[in-house]
Order: sequence, then structure tokens, then C-alpha cells
Amino acid sequence: MRGNPSLEEKPRKQSVRQMFADLFSRVRPQWRLIIIAMIAVLFVALIEFAIPQFIQFTIDIVIPEQQLDMLGWIFAGVIGGAILLVGFQFTGSYLMAIVGQRALYELRNDLYKHMQHADVSFFDRNRTGDLMSRMTNDVNMLQQLLSSGLLNLLTDIFIFIAISTYMFYVNWQLATLILVTFPLLFYLTRYFGKRIRKAYLKVQGSLADMNNHLQDTFSGVRLVKSFAMEDYEAERFSERNETNRHANIDAAKNFSLFGPMVNFVNYIGMGAVVVFGALQTMEGNMTVGMIATFLVYLRLLQNPIRRVSRLMNTIQQAAAAYDRIMAILETRPAIQDPPSAKTLSIKHGEITFHDVTFAYEETNVLKHIDVRFQGGKTTALVGPSGSGKTTITQLLTRFYDPGEGSITIDGTPIDEVTLSSLRSQIGVVSQDVVLVNGTIRDNIAYGQANACMNEIKTAAQIAHAEGFIKELPDGYDSMVGERGVKLSGGQKQRISIARALLKDPKIILLDEATSALDTEAEKAIQAGLAQLLQDRTALVIAHRLSTIQNADHIIVLDEGRVVEQGTHEELLRFNGRYQHLHRMQYSKQGVFS
Ligand SMILES: Nc1ncnc2c1ncn2[C@@H]1O[C@H](COP(=O)(O)OP(=O)(O)OP(=O)(O)O)[C@@H](O)[C@H]1O
Ligand SMILES: [Mg+2]
Repeated sequence: MRGNPSLEEKPRKQSVRQMFADLFSRVRPQWRLIIIAMIAVLFVALIEFAIPQFIQFTIDIVIPEQQLDMLGWIFAGVIGGAILLVGFQFTGSYLMAIVGQRALYELRNDLYKHMQHADVSFFDRNRTGDLMSRMTNDVNMLQQLLSSGLLNLLTDIFIFIAISTYMFYVNWQLATLILVTFPLLFYLTRYFGKRIRKAYLKVQGSLADMNNHLQDTFSGVRLVKSFAMEDYEAERFSERNETNRHANIDAAKNFSLFGPMVNFVNYIGMGAVVVFGALQTMEGNMTVGMIATFLVYLRLLQNPIRRVSRLMNTIQQAAAAYDRIMAILETRPAIQDPPSAKTLSIKHGEITFHDVTFAYEETNVLKHIDVRFQGGKTTALVGPSGSGKTTITQLLTRFYDPGEGSITIDGTPIDEVTLSSLRSQIGVVSQDVVLVNGTIRDNIAYGQANACMNEIKTAAQIAHAEGFIKELPDGYDSMVGERGVKLSGGQKQRISIARALLKDPKIILLDEATSALDTEAEKAIQAGLAQLLQDRTALVIAHRLSTIQNADHIIVLDEGRVVEQGTHEELLRFNGRYQHLHRMQYSKQGVFS
């Protein structure tokens, strides 16, 4: 439902050669397997070439000369060849499957790792369904090219060379006659290839669309149901599904016509062989056995031509997939460790924004912010919705970098230290709590693999979460469900407070940390929160007056600017924005903004 199509990672057209160079470097470490596979394939071609020779021998020599005793040998030869064929074909395709799977296993891991390190804005730009389809469909496409496509190509080239050499050797006129049909085949291949590729592009596009739709509506099932939109969504899905059907049928139409057309051209060749071969045989230049062999070879030649065209298809599809994968691999995260990055060591924890201006896209969301968050103290950020409060926390954790200005902690610019040292010392309890699909314990200890059970329990106690956790059937081992669906909003919030407590960071960011709690629960965890805030630099975004009043300093934001700051009393005396918000709060007894 989100996403600006003009901004997502658009595939840039890479050359096919570049794709092969890249794939080659990925399979090179497995050169031993590849060589064995190639040898196996060479034998496949030789045997396929050799078996028809038995026919010629039988027709031209064994039958006329009545060599009955040879028949047993011929039978053994054909069957023996066929058995060898099974062995070599198996070896070739099995080994190449291993090569392809290994190479793509690494590519998929690389891709995932790369995405994990991508900027937060990367995920703002791209739709989840698209990214998933690049991880799965596109990688599979390349794997298909590597494993079966290239192997078949090799087999076909060998067979093609062997057969055409033989044909020219036996009768160059007839061979030329057959060869004349090849440009026609080539043209057909190009013509249909283009159409099939176009159709497949549409298929892939509609698949990604369907993926996105599924992703949105399954994870947003409550929204769909509460607005009774099931039928509407089913209708929209059906539209996408229909696009997919049309595209697939279009591809099938071209494919279905392509096969018979190739056959047709082949029959022309067959006609030529029969008629011209008969003439030549009558003149004594050829034998009946040769005609039979030519006919079999003609069949064998058909495979390479057909398969080469299919391969060209695969290559085109793989190239499109490769482009999409490279579009991701080539995005360099803007936010990463600077060269020779230091580890951030926090002493006082004083945070300063120096004339910070920031825009997510085009409009500035923060304008010339010049503020100081005192070390070890609690600063409250207040202001209307959309004024940029959450954005300030996102800049502090370097989810985004400011367009202008800089942010320092104890005088060190945060873009000069490692991301991990920065983020590991900042605890965030965010507006929308994110839970992973695991147990309560997994969620509290997320990122703290070494935490022992006692520490986890203590954190839960302080966050006032122990009570409800104990009532769950499996206690700390209860599963929270996907995104924590099995917990209430307030429960999720308490889990995330416990998570922050366990992390024990020097800096803590609370974004409306208590908004989902009722007054009683909020009172109960005040003590816990007080402990969380104690002796840390805390930035508290709150709508409730009680939380704000206790802060050491209050900063009032409006439309991305700092409009007032001071203590609660100072701001009330000032008779400005804060006082106005304060009055609204008392008149409504509701939230602060
Ligand atoms: N990822 C994003 N991409 C583009 N614009 C964004 C993004 N996140 C926030 N914004 C915009 O930035 C502005 C400030 O948003 P922010 O979340 O900082 O507001 P806030 O003060 O935290 O509001 P609230 O009290 O409602 O939480 C809003 O106008 C919002 O539309
Ligand atoms: Mg916010």
C-alpha cells in the first residue's frame, strides 16, 4: 500500500555477457565438478552420434550380406550405448545441478545479507512482495540457467558439430540442402523468442503484484475484515490473477505455435533428404543406409535447435532476473560505518543537534534544529502529530542521516563511529512495538543472546510484565505469534520496555512508551520507567502531562522547528505554545496533542 514506484530500485539493463562473467566467477571454484560434467556430456554427444551408425551398417552391410551372426552384436551395441547414455546423462545433469545449487545458495545468502544492511529508506522505497520475489523467483531463474540450460547447450553444441561434420563428409550437397533450412529455423526462434520473452516479463510483473497483494492483505487481515472489504480484496486479487492468466496464455500461445513451426521446417528438411537422397542413391552416390541415418540425424538436430531457442528464452529471463538482483546488490547503503570508524564511548551522554535539517523525500520535516539533550537527564519532546518528534529519534539511531547539520554525542559526531557501537548503546521503545515470532523470552532478550533467565525476569518485573507473563500457559516460553498478535497492545509495550531495560543502554528513547497502557498500568510501571530513565540520557516523547512534568527539560516542536524550550514551570509562565497545549490537555483530560 506504500511505495513510490518512481523511487524503487529500478533494474538497470546489464549486458548478458556481464551476467555470464558474474555467474562464471561464481561457479569457478567448482571447476572439478564442471570438468567431469563436461566430459560426461561429451560422451553423451558421441554416443548419440554413434547409435545411428549401427542402422547404416545394418542396412548397407548386414542385410545385403546376410550376416546373421552380426545381429546379436548390433543389438548389444545399441543397448550398451543406451545404458552408457543413461550413466553419462545422469552424471552430467546431477553434477551441474550441484554446481548451480551451490552457486545460487551463496548468491541468495549474499542478497539477503545485503538487504539486511540496506538503509531503512530502502525498505521505504521497495515493496516487500517485490523484494521477496527477487529473493526467490529471480534467484531460481538464474539457477535454472546454470544447471540445465548451460549443460544442454553444451550437449547440443557437441552433437551439432559431430552430426554436421559427418553429413558434410558423407554428402556435402545434401548437407548444404539441410543447412539451408537453418536460417529459417533461426528466424522462427528469434521471432517467437521475442514474443515469449515479452509475455514472460508480464508474467513476472503480475507475479510480483500478486505477491504484494497477498502480503498486504494477509498481514492486514484485521483491517480488511473490519471494513468488510473481503469481497473487494478478492475482486482486486482476481484482477491481478487475471493479468497473470492472460500473460501466461499469451506465452503459451506463442510457445504452442513455435514447436509445430519448428517441426514444419524440419519436415521440409526431411522431404529434401528423402527426395534428394533417393536421387543420389539411384545414381549410386549414396546408400539406403545413409538415407536412414540422415533421417535419424535430422531428428537429432532438431533437438539442439529447439533447445537453443528455449535456452535463449531462459537466458533472456535470467538476464531480466539478474538485472533485478543487481539493482539490489548495487545499492550501496548511504548509512554505513565510515572508514577507520571509532567505537563510540559514551561518558556523559550529552546529545547535541547542530542546525539539523532533514527531509525523508522532498519536503523538510526537520528545519534547523539546534538543541541539546543533557547527559543523564530526561528531556521531553512535545508537539502536535507530524511535527517531527519520532523523526528526531530516527536520526539519532542513524536510520536516516540529516541533509544538513550534524549530531554529536559527547562531542563526537555520530557518523564517525561504528553503527553497532552507536546503536548498541541506545535503547528504543518505539511507537509501534515490533515483536518477532518467537517466545516472550526470545523477544525480551532479542539481541542479548548472553542474557540469563534471572536478568530477563528482573527486566520483566521492573517493566511490570511479570504478572501477565506468568498467567500465560507457557510463561516465558509462550509464543507471541506473528508480530506479536497474541498479545495486547499494553502487553507488547511492556515487553518492549523490558527489552530496553535488559539492554541497559546509556541513552534511551521512549516514543509514547505508555500510550497503550491504562492509567493504572501506567502508574504501576512508572517506577520501572523511572528506573529505566535514571542515570541515562533520556528522550521521552509523551502526550501525557504526568510524564512530561517530571522531565528535566521540555522541548516543544511544531512543523519541524523548535518553538519553545524550558522546564514545565518556565514554559507555563511563558504563555506560549506549551501553555496552549497544556490548557487543551486539562480541558479534555485527553492526550497532549
Ligand atoms: N518514512 C517516511 N517517509 C516519508 N515521510 C515520512 C516518513 N516518516 C514520517 N514522515 C513524515 O514526516 C513528518 C514527521 O513525522 P514524525 O513521525 O516525526 O511525526 P511525530 O511528531 O512523531 O508525529 P506523531 O505524534 O503522530 O507520532 C510527517 O509529516 C510524516 O508524514
Ligand atoms: Mg511519532
